[in-house]
Amino acid sequence: MTNSSANIYKKRRENLTNFLEEGSYLIINSASNVIRNNDTTFPFRQNSNFFYLTGFNEPECVLLLNNNGKTTFFCRPKNPDLEKWDGFMHGIEGAKENFAFDNVLNIEELEKLLPEIIKGCSTVYSLIGKDQSFDEKLITLINRANSMERHQANIDLKNFSNIIGKMRLTKYEDEINLMKKSCHIAAMSHKEVISNVKVGMSEFDIESMYLNQFRIRGSRYPSYTPIVAGGKNACILHYIDNNQSIEDGDLVLVDAGCEYGMYASDITRTFPINGKYSSEQRAVYDVVLEAHNAACNAVKIGNSCMEPQNVSETVISQGLKDLGFLTQSMDEILEKQLFREFYYHKIGHWLGLDVHDDCPYSVNGSDVKFEENMVMTIEPGIYINDTAPVEEKWKGIGIRIENDIRATKKGFENLTHEVPYDASEIESLMNNA
Ligand code: GLY
Ligand code: MN
Ligand code: MN
Repeated sequence: MTNSSANIYKKRRENLTNFLEEGSYLIINSASNVIRNNDTTFPFRQNSNFFYLTGFNEPECVLLLNNNGKTTFFCRPKNPDLEKWDGFMHGIEGAKENFAFDNVLNIEELEKLLPEIIKGCSTVYSLIGKDQSFDEKLITLINRANSMERHQANIDLKNFSNIIGKMRLTKYEDEINLMKKSCHIAAMSHKEVISNVKVGMSEFDIESMYLNQFRIRGSRYPSYTPIVAGGKNACILHYIDNNQSIEDGDLVLVDAGCEYGMYASDITRTFPINGKYSSEQRAVYDVVLEAHNAACNAVKIGNSCMEPQNVSETVISQGLKDLGFLTQSMDEILEKQLFREFYYHKIGHWLGLDVHDDCPYSVNGSDVKFEENMVMTIEPGIYINDTAPVEEKWKGIGIRIENDIRATKKGFENLTHEVPYDASEIESLMNNA
């Protein structure tokens, strides 16, 4: 009896075989448990590519897929003693019954059986460079297979990272549904927290409110460590200390998303702790908002995926000029990238199983063009550090607005629209709570 979702993964494997050479095998391993300290582990998180092709959520497994779509799966056998400590395992029978694999074998026999299976094949595809110890093991086993077939050409080892990366760019309908749910949970969590923050709360207080919201809405883990940055901490892009007090009059930048069904959401909002943006904060906010809205419009089927970047650079440069932060001509600002003093990251990234989804931005030297069901974050920002060449009153302002944007035939769809991002709407949310 096959688990109904098993066919989703089987179909993905079949689609992947279209890109594999005749007489080849693809080999991919699962994630392992990772030690946190002494004998405690981090919560297990399956490797995204492995999950994409199997839906199997245990460590110590290896999938072999040949170019005809036949699968051999190695996993741990059932072990009632271990299950008393670590919980349910599918085991060999369970994997065979529920996951639509053709053949399931004991992972303890991998080293003996894998060379037998692949000997005489032309090519092995693997994710070279992602897991050094597996790379080394695989090379040893390929060498062993070569030595069994001395009269044949040696097996070619190729990377399939770009093949699967391109597949993962365009989301299937079931993936879009999970992404919508992940985005909904994250958006409603932002909305709930923003409507409840008060002067006197610290970064730590606000972080714990977010984590609680994610959990009570059905997401156990954030999709990355949240950034909760009060005042000038917002100018540190990867600020995760989240342990400072917040002054009345400060902005708070929160970049926090959750994971649901293995899919990430990724949202940033920047709000005033006291519910009212100062005129300087508001002036900068509105430039970022204009860049955000223009970049969303550039997420259009057929456009280069770099178009939102280009559009955001132009809008932010004009805004920086209007604010008096840059005085050069637009041509000079753009050509010399002078805006980078204030906007020092890119507009966004692909989103999916990984928050920075492991998908290409260019293929064979050409930019990827948007197709239906690609999802990209749009997240322009302006950050005014202490060293910036501007009047004191602007310093310490850091603003980013981030939404998760899906390309559709009807234009872009903002999957995280449920939490407001217009400055006046954020003020209303904070003051009507
Ligand atoms: N939260 C990580 C990012 O926005 O890229
Ligand atoms: Mn992001
Ligand atoms: Mn983010």
